[in-house]
Amino acid sequence: NTTTNLDFEFEAHTNPVSDADRAVLLANPGFGKVFTDHMVVIKYSVEKGWHDAKVQPRGPIQVDPAMAVLHYAQEIFEGLKAYRTPDGAVTLFRADENARRFRESAERMAMAPLPEELFLQSIRELVKIDEKWIPEIEGGSLYLRPFMFASEVFLGVKPASEYLYMVIASPAGAYFKGGAPSVTLWVSEHYTRAAPGGTGAAKCGGNYAASLVAQKEAIGHGCDQVVFLDAVENRYVEELGGMNVMFVMDDGSIITPPLGGTILPGITRASLLTLAREQGIEVREERYSIDQWKADAQSGKLREAFACGTAAVLTPIGQVRGNGYEFMIGNGGPGIVTEKLRAELGGIQRGTVPDTHGWVERL
Ligand code: PLP
Ligand code: COI
Repeated sequence: NTTTNLDFEFEAHTNPVSDADRAVLLANPGFGKVFTDHMVVIKYSVEKGWHDAKVQPRGPIQVDPAMAVLHYAQEIFEGLKAYRTPDGAVTLFRADENARRFRESAERMAMAPLPEELFLQSIRELVKIDEKWIPEIEGGSLYLRPFMFASEVFLGVKPASEYLYMVIASPAGAYFKGGAPSVTLWVSEHYTRAAPGGTGAAKCGGNYAASLVAQKEAIGHGCDQVVFLDAVENRYVEELGGMNVMFVMDDGSIITPPLGGTILPGITRASLLTLAREQGIEVREERYSIDQWKADAQSGKLREAFACGTAAVLTPIGQVRGNGYEFMIGNGGPGIVTEKLRAELGGIQRGTVPDTHGWVERL
């Protein structure tokens, strides 16, 4: 099926959230708790290809108990944000990269790849109809969650012949509670996230399901996020449960774990590497072990570390804890390089810093 554009059928919500109620919700949306009035639904079947594209009132969907996704977890998702610029426009940041990664995730999970143009079209349609849900608070955005799952009713273990693609939207403030100035990480010794040849580079729900027990362990140790080490040697830092990680050294250079199939190729990560290189910062995509991290933090060779991703934006890492050890990074608060990169990336996304890369689409 080569369909790249579909005509969307529109069904506006007959009883949308009132302006007054929405204003209350948007004053403090947190992350992932508040949803807009509409959603996108597109169907796929082997016979018909992609069809029945709709923007409709957000609401529950019918799920048959034998729906394949409930059994074998053929499910993928994306996460991207729409921003409001000071002059009132709405922007999307590198949505084409999310479209590409979504297709690659689908291919890894043997699912029907959604044409990238259709992904982009669906995002634009939903943002257009629900743009009043973009919070005007500092750091506010509309988080978009495209996802797709095997909707075929069949218990055989095989790639499904039917899929449902949907997009929902959720106004967002800070991902970490209270907009924490820095977070504390827990180093998981026992659990790994992804092994070579596995699904680590795909944005599939299963990766997150597998990470939760480690995340729970992190919370149990008073930490905000888990950091995973590589599955082969249990030494090299890979990424966090839902973010990539970067290290700023005392010579001003930045180190980040290389992509190699076991970590998610973050769009924030890629953008920051480009911005850093343009500023003359030396960037090294190379393996960095937990022992090195400990030693560099203690000697002062490591100045800053931060988590980066769409939901987390750039969040400084203040402390790291593991089995029988604990260390602080810098003074435990935000560092200069982290802050500078955060301001630049955020400015590009929100239209206050010139977009010299063609990363921003104004809707
Ligand atoms: N790593 C994981 C496991 C993630 O869930 C995310 C978030 O999407 C990222 C990294 C960062 O990716 P991006 O910058 O594209 O949001
Ligand atoms: C995102 O940043 O979009 C993610 O998927 C991370 C998740 C922890 C919300």
